[in-house]
Amino acid sequence: MPLKDQHRQEFYDCIRDLIHTPQVQSMGQIAQHTGEVSRLEHSLYVSYVGFLLCDFFGLDQRAAARGGLLHDMHYATRDEAFSFRARLLLLHPKLALHNASAAFELSQKEQDIIVKHMWPLTVSLPRYAESYLVCLADKLCAAAEMLRLYRLMRMEEKLRPAFAA
Ligand SMILES: [Fe+2]
Ligand SMILES: [Fe+2]
Repeated sequence: MPLKDQHRQEFYDCIRDLIHTPQVQSMGQIAQHTGEVSRLEHSLYVSYVGFLLCDFFGLDQRAAARGGLLHDMHYATRDEAFSFRARLLLLHPKLALHNASAAFELSQKEQDIIVKHMWPLTVSLPRYAESYLVCLADKLCAAAEMLRLYRLMRMEEKLRPAFAA
């Protein structure tokens, strides 16, 4: 198997038990940031970039992939009132942690990745290097989506096998 495919296979193995669940798949119905990319696509993108960053630095890429996939696991939409959406900016990491913990068994590191992903907006510091890298991945991915680079980079095509049931 070519190295690139082997690498992607390792990524899918990290999230295989999560990606096909209704709790994760239902994020595919909700628009994230621009409306062009769904929350599921954004989450998978963050998961993959977090995985790559942690792999590069020799860190726990499995926790990064899993925490990244679940980091925005809430179901509020862009149709909510502006004041509610503004409050969500700070609240949604806790909401995502609540939902993800109710659905899946999470390690301490995965929990920290989810609940601290909006750092430095969240007051307390991330406890793990992986949390910082997923936090960075989230910002990079959000910027790429807002610059309409997600489709140009053909991320959907690269990540499609993880979407397929
Ligand atoms: Fe978020
Ligand atoms: Fe995010």
